[in-house]
Amino acid sequence: MADGQRKMKVVVTLNLGPKVMPLLYDHPDLDIVLWPHAGSSGKQWLLDNIPGADGCIVMLFEKVDEEAAGPNLKVVSTMTVGYDHVDVKALTKRRIKLGNTPDVLTEAVADASVMLALMAGRNTKEGTDIVQQGKARTLCWSCLRRPNLQRVCSGQVGHGTLGFIGFGRIAQATLARMVGFGYTRCLYVARSKDPARAADLQQTVKGRHPSLTTVQQVELDQLARESDVLHVLAPGGPETYHIINEEFLKQMKRTAILVNTGRGTLVDSDALAKALREGWLWGAGVDVVEGEPGITADHPLVKEPRCVVIPHIGSATWESRIGMATVAAENLLAGLVGKPMTSEVQLPNVELGIAVATIDYRLAPEYPHPTPVNDCVDGVKWPSILTSQEALYPGVPHGFYLTLGSLSATKGFQVDFRAGLRKFMPGAK
Ligand code: DGY
Repeated sequence: MADGQRKMKVVVTLNLGPKVMPLLYDHPDLDIVLWPHAGSSGKQWLLDNIPGADGCIVMLFEKVDEEAAGPNLKVVSTMTVGYDHVDVKALTKRRIKLGNTPDVLTEAVADASVMLALMAGRNTKEGTDIVQQGKARTLCWSCLRRPNLQRVCSGQVGHGTLGFIGFGRIAQATLARMVGFGYTRCLYVARSKDPARAADLQQTVKGRHPSLTTVQQVELDQLARESDVLHVLAPGGPETYHIINEEFLKQMKRTAILVNTGRGTLVDSDALAKALREGWLWGAGVDVVEGEPGITADHPLVKEPRCVVIPHIGSATWESRIGMATVAAENLLAGLVGKPMTSEVQLPNVELGIAVATIDYRLAPEYPHPTPVNDCVDGVKWPSILTSQEALYPGVPHGFYLTLGSLSATKGFQVDFRAGLRKFMPGAK
C-alpha cells in the first residue's frame, strides 16, 4: 500500500464497464473516485477531485494540463492512443508517467477510415438525405442526360494514389485495406525526415503490398496535388494545427476525397467547407472535427452535402473499446507501483535549465559526489548520487568547486564536471 498505510487515490473520468472496473474496484490498495455520469467529466470536476490523487484515468475530452497535473500524481492513463489533450511538458517536469492505448484500436479506426473514403467517394450523404426526405422516387437513372440529377453519381473509388498525413500503425492498416480497391501509389508525409528510416519503411510496405508501384515520403504540396484519397492520421497538437488549410485544399484534385480519422485540429473546418462548396475537391469524410464533442447541426461541415460527419466513433467497436479500457487500467496499475506499463508514452527529454551543484572533495575520500544546492526546481527532485569522476581528475586538491550541470527531465541532473573544473582549475582536462 502507498506510504505504508494510505490507500492510493485514483480518479477515473469514465466508467470502464463491468469487465474492467473490477480491476480497479477490487484492488485492495485503491480508493476510486469515479465520475458518475455519461459524457465528459469536464475540467472542473477533474480539478476538484485530482488533489491528493496518485493516478487518474482520463478520456479524450478531459484536458490534463499544468493545473490538473496535481502534486501527488504519479501516473496519467489516457484511454486513447492520441494524447494531445495531455500537457506532456507539465507531466515531464513532474516525472508523471503517461500511458496510452495503441494497437487495440488500429483495426477499428482503419475500418472507419475506409468506410469514410467510400461513403464520401460515393456521395452517400446526399443519397441518404434524399431517401430521408422521401424523394427517392424522384431520382432517375438517366443522370448523364439530366445534369441536375447527377449529384447521386460519382467517380469510381479505387484507382490512383493514396495519400497519408501521418504514416503510423493506423495509416498502414488503412493502406492494407485500400490496396484491395486497386490503388497503386502510396505517398505520405511523416514527421521523421531520416532518409534511412524512410527507406526501411518503404521497403517493408512494398514487401507487404507487391501491387504498389510507389511508396514515397513527400512534402505536403506534392501530397495535396497527387492524392486521390487523402487520409489524415497524424497526431494533434500545435505542430499539426490546421495543416489542411485553404492553401492545401486549393492544390487538391477536383475529384479527390479527404478523410480525417486523426484529430479535428489538423483540418481548418471553414476552409474545408468552402472547398467542398466551391468544388476544389469532391468530398470529405470526417470522424473528428475541431471543437468536438460540441458539433451541432449548424456546423459548416455538417451542412455540407458532400461531407460525411460521424461523431468520433472510429474506435467504437466492442473489441476496441474493451481493449482500450483494459490497457488503460493496466497502465494505471503498473504506473502506480513503478512497474512497466502495457503501453507507456516515452516522454520527450525536456531541458529544464542549468543548475549549479557544490562538490565537496573533503567529504568524499574518493572523487566527487556533488550535492545539489537546491533539492528541487519546478517541483522536480534532483538525483542526489552522481557518478564519481575520479579517473578523470587525479591529483585535484580537496575543496569546494562549483560545477555547472543541466537538469533534464528524462536524463536527470547531468553535471559537466570538466567544464566546472576547468573554470576553477584551468589546467584540468
Ligand atoms: C484515440 O484513441 O486517440 C482515438 O481518437 C479514439 O478513437
